[in-house]
Amino acid sequence: MARLTSTLASRISLLMLLAHGVLLPLLFFGVMHVVERSQVDQFLEQVRGFARVVADQFELGDALDSPERSKALLDSAILRGDGAYAELRAGGRDIRSELGLAGVQRPPHQDLDVGQGDDEVYFIMLPLDHAGRQAELWLGFDERTLTAEIAEARSRVLAVLAAYFASTMVLALLVGRWLSRPLTELQQRSRRVASGDYALHLAATTSLREVVELGRDLDRMRGELVGVSERLRQEIVAKEAVESERRTLEVQLRRRHRLETVGTLAGGVAHEFNNALVPIILYTESLLLDAPEGSSDAEQLQGVLSAAKRARDIVRKVLVFSRDFDSTRLGPVRLESAVDEALKLFTALVPASIDVRQELAADIPTVLADQGLLTQLIMNLCTNAFQAMQATGGVLTIGVRVDRSVVPPIVELYVADTGHGMDSATVERIFEPFFTTREVGSGTGLGLAVAHGIATSFGASIVVDSNPGEGATFRVRFPTGQRADAHNLAAEPEPMRSAR
Ligand SMILES: Nc1ncnc2c1ncn2[C@@H]1O[C@H](COP(=O)(O)OP(=O)(O)OP(=O)(O)O)[C@@H](O)[C@H]1O
Ligand SMILES: [Mg+2]
Repeated sequence: MARLTSTLASRISLLMLLAHGVLLPLLFFGVMHVVERSQVDQFLEQVRGFARVVADQFELGDALDSPERSKALLDSAILRGDGAYAELRAGGRDIRSELGLAGVQRPPHQDLDVGQGDDEVYFIMLPLDHAGRQAELWLGFDERTLTAEIAEARSRVLAVLAAYFASTMVLALLVGRWLSRPLTELQQRSRRVASGDYALHLAATTSLREVVELGRDLDRMRGELVGVSERLRQEIVAKEAVESERRTLEVQLRRRHRLETVGTLAGGVAHEFNNALVPIILYTESLLLDAPEGSSDAEQLQGVLSAAKRARDIVRKVLVFSRDFDSTRLGPVRLESAVDEALKLFTALVPASIDVRQELAADIPTVLADQGLLTQLIMNLCTNAFQAMQATGGVLTIGVRVDRSVVPPIVELYVADTGHGMDSATVERIFEPFFTTREVGSGTGLGLAVAHGIATSFGASIVVDSNPGEGATFRVRFPTGQRADAHNLAAEPEPMRSAR
């Protein structure tokens, strides 16, 4: 039931049904009362008038004198009107017409209204007075025509009311539908908005002011909610960006601290080793001068000397990483010429399976660096790239580009390979001195530590992009617009890394 009356159309129809349930019977009985009354009044007027005419005929003529004439007059009264009964009672002599309805009995008193008794005959008694002779004229009229007419009127009224009721109900349904259509449209649009179509306007195609205003209010609400949710979304995105930036900075800071600690420790150890190596080399060299050439002593001393020199090389590399070298050599350098020089040295070494390419942008600003150290940096990066592709072959790209989206622009030297790449755990540690994934004896793990030290001494930073199986790209980002004499090594560049 609740479901039946839950829609606007059904509710309007139900209300109409209830209203008609109460009003239609009242209307029906009211109308029927008026109709019946007027029919009865008309009947009575007619029969009374007719009876008067018959009575006049008896009083004015001499019909009362002759029983035959009286009977003829009574017969003609029955034949002319809706006569059902006609009788004349005069001085104990009753004359009755035989033409009336059979079996009808005269009541003791005349009828006061239609429908009295159960004989379906309306009786009128008229007293007659003719030349001092008194008589009673009894006339009976058939009520069945009247009853039939009233019954017919009743069914007509019923039919009209039923047609009226049916058309009102249909109208109520149509009005309900017509009223609910714009509301349904608004509802469907609201659902679409709720399911993500935020740009959809909430309005219904109607001229109903209330619905138009409801749509306008809802649309305003939609606009505000969309605005709020967009603001919230932007705030969340901004928060996430800040959060990820914070995490990146944290990682960078941790790495920088670790490298600094390792750098300080390695630098200290390297210093001490250097101090110890100097006398070893000097004494060995002087002993070597005294030893006879080709003797086994000279041979062994030569072994000591070359081992000591190798140790000094390593110590030097560690010192480069810990930035313990002369900085006064920095000056403006053209990266294109450094790349050229490194390529000249390098292309002679690589096999044909490795395709070496060069990409140089136009108008590259000079950067503050040392040509020799720069070449060493490029060589270290190229060597690693070559080693990553040694087994498979591939493409090694060395290039220089200028990032002019920042002021002053940044000059970027990049070395990219299509080798085996690195996982994030390896990327995390590659700049640490002595970190290597190569077999014992084939790598010291100092190449990138030195590259990092050199880049840092130029005020540049190194960024790496790499994933396992996808090669690696190392980028050395040089700031521009610095003057050689103003270059301050104390200004720490940010060692950076980003892995895809
Ligand atoms: N281009 C590259 N592709 C893949 N892995 C690389 C690449 N460059 C460096 N690596 C990884 O970083 C590690 C450290 O490199 P680094 O140059 O410091 O030392 P090394 O090459 O192992 O030894 P050394 O350079 O002293 O001979 C390497 O062992 C290798 O695992
Ligand atoms: Mg290396």
